[in-house]
Amino acid sequence: MKWLVYVRMSVAVLAGLVACTAQVLGQADGEATPIFGIRIPAGYRDWKLISVAHEAGKLNDLRAILGNDIAVKAAREGTLPYPDGAIVARVAWTYEPLPESKEAFGQPQSHVAGAPTNVQFMVKDSTKYAATGGWGYAQFDAGKPASEAVHNACFACHAIVKGRDFVFNRYAP
Ligand code: HEC
Repeated sequence: MKWLVYVRMSVAVLAGLVACTAQVLGQADGEATPIFGIRIPAGYRDWKLISVAHEAGKLNDLRAILGNDIAVKAAREGTLPYPDGAIVARVAWTYEPLPESKEAFGQPQSHVAGAPTNVQFMVKDSTKYAATGGWGYAQFDAGKPASEAVHNACFACHAIVKGRDFVFNRYAP
């Protein structure tokens, strides 16, 4: 009956592989946002960098703009409009002085990423999101979708850069 044990083991290994593949293929996670019905895309934190940004004023944060493979390729090649399937992520952290900076430079000069604030996504689907320029918008605060009012404001402001397919950031080479 040894063979039966082997068969069972193989099935278990296969099931594990299938579960892993689903993750790699980018299955989304958690609760969906109001209006656009977007979930947090799996693995987004490992996406490639498009650019970085710093918000001054009350927001006072540091940001990274990341893209899935479709978005990064389009951003790098300057392809407009972005093709369907493109997802751009905006990750942000509080802007904090590095405690060791004074020791390193003799003055508090270096600033680094502190605690994460929230994460935003733009998901390209020209059919599904035709009413908002082909992009669906999503914001998550500590993993939970932001309110409907927050989601109502995204498109109006991003319309400022309609000529760049509603994306403010350019690829930083
Ligand atoms: C008041 C204007 C305004 C509103 C409202 C706004 N954004 Fe933006 N957004 C910007 C600006 C300006 C940038 C570029 C600077 C930066 O990255 O911080 C940006 C950048 C982004 C980026 C990176 C891609 C790009 O366009 O450069 C994403 C993703 C994003 N916003 C998503 C959202 C989502 C989702 C919402 C609504 C929940 C939203 N934004 C609401 C102004 C706005």
